[in-house]
Amino acid sequence: MEETKVIHAALLGAGTVGGGLYKLAEALKEELVKKTGAQLVIDKVLVRDKNKKREGIPREKLTDSWQEILNDSQIEIIIELMGGIEPALTYIKEALHAGKQVVTANKDLLAEHGAELFAAAEERGCDLQFEAAVAGAIPIIRPLRQSLAGSCLTEVMGIVNGTTNYILTKMSEEGMDYKEALDMATKLGYAEADPTADVEGYDAGRKLAIMASIAFNSRVTFPQVYTEGISKITAKDIQYAKEFGYVIKLLGITRLTEEGIEVKVHPMLIPDTHPLASVRDSFNAVFVHGDACDDAMFMGRGAGEMPTASAVMGDVIDVMRNILKNSCGKIGCGCYKSLPVKNIQETSSRFFLRIQVSDRPGALANISGVLGNNNVSIEQVVQKKSHDGVAELVIITDRVKELYFNDAIKILKGMSVLKEISGIIRVY
Ligand code: NAP
Ligand code: HSE
Repeated sequence: MEETKVIHAALLGAGTVGGGLYKLAEALKEELVKKTGAQLVIDKVLVRDKNKKREGIPREKLTDSWQEILNDSQIEIIIELMGGIEPALTYIKEALHAGKQVVTANKDLLAEHGAELFAAAEERGCDLQFEAAVAGAIPIIRPLRQSLAGSCLTEVMGIVNGTTNYILTKMSEEGMDYKEALDMATKLGYAEADPTADVEGYDAGRKLAIMASIAFNSRVTFPQVYTEGISKITAKDIQYAKEFGYVIKLLGITRLTEEGIEVKVHPMLIPDTHPLASVRDSFNAVFVHGDACDDAMFMGRGAGEMPTASAVMGDVIDVMRNILKNSCGKIGCGCYKSLPVKNIQETSSRFFLRIQVSDRPGALANISGVLGNNNVSIEQVVQKKSHDGVAELVIITDRVKELYFNDAIKILKGMSVLKEISGIIRVY
């Protein structure tokens, strides 16, 4: 009987996702042989601290030497789950130059250094797979690169950060405090090593840069994405949004327009009847629109140990099949266009504006006058009961160019009638 081929791999990182991936590789041992025709053996696991106990991972597999892995010619697949830019960038480039296949979940890296990594992969005809880098367990990279390649895609929009979706769900449904909800998300393994990346929208921005690059075949990097997080959202914003029939979500939106690519991440009020309103906890959802495919929606667990490990394992299985069929590196970078990215000021939105004003005759007229003079039309306005001579106004505007809205805000800030701008959130 012919012996089953063994494909050797190394895991870089044994944290939340790396630990999950190792468990999955053990659990699927026999299944993988049936699925691919080869056995997967993870020979080495790179960590910072070799002496820390890792559940389920034999101590002798742990190493803190990258050179030991790089120089092991048996190792064909590198599964990078360390995160961050360096040393991950150097290790992946060295692995590709050495002709090893790479699977990664590292969105930080792909959103800033995607071009050079794809160039390195193409040069050696290697696989560089990254399904888990965007939206955890949800298959979205493969659909964008392959299944939907027959359509001219014009919009990708959705909830692509599990941590912030978990926090907003807990704040709005259980009245949980922001800090407590963030601590819970961290404990559950959803948050990044530095959760600032989650709450300030950087993580979602990185994922959006990756999706925009694939969807529009034009490289978009993270610094080109406008990002605004959820750290300033208050319980009051959530309560007023509810009164208007909305829920607040952190959304990533990228569109292909005649003037270039729009790409932005920010909190948004969405109608409580919208399908995205029911995407709760660590779930993510991505809408895609294209000329031929029309609308498509993808939903699932966006973060966490096993959901993310599942996406990584899907890539590993694909790479194993490619190795066996000698077909690695068949899908390259795909960024064959060079489209401009629009400045956020040139895009348009509706706005929710919560302000404190002097409770005196003509105050509302002054405010609405400034808005009107700057092309900002009011769709709804509510005045809350005043306290100590200060009234709270909650305004929802019609769609307006962001530049005009910001001009109006600048003028309002200089007026004596305005005491405070308490919240500005875009509205779907
Ligand atoms: P994590 O829990 O912080 O684990 C990181 C692991 O990498 C640790 O085992 C750490 O070693 C190791 N490591 C870090 N820097 C290293 C270095 N310089 N040399 C050797 N080992 C190093 O991170 P994670 O949550 O698993 O995330 C891993 C990657 O997956 C990141 O790119 C993240 O953005 C991405 N991702 C995470 C999720 C999620 O839900 N958590 C979802 C999708 C994508 P020590 O244990 O010795 O410190
Ligand atoms: N920190 C990320 C999130 C992990 O919360 O969505 C998944 O990419």
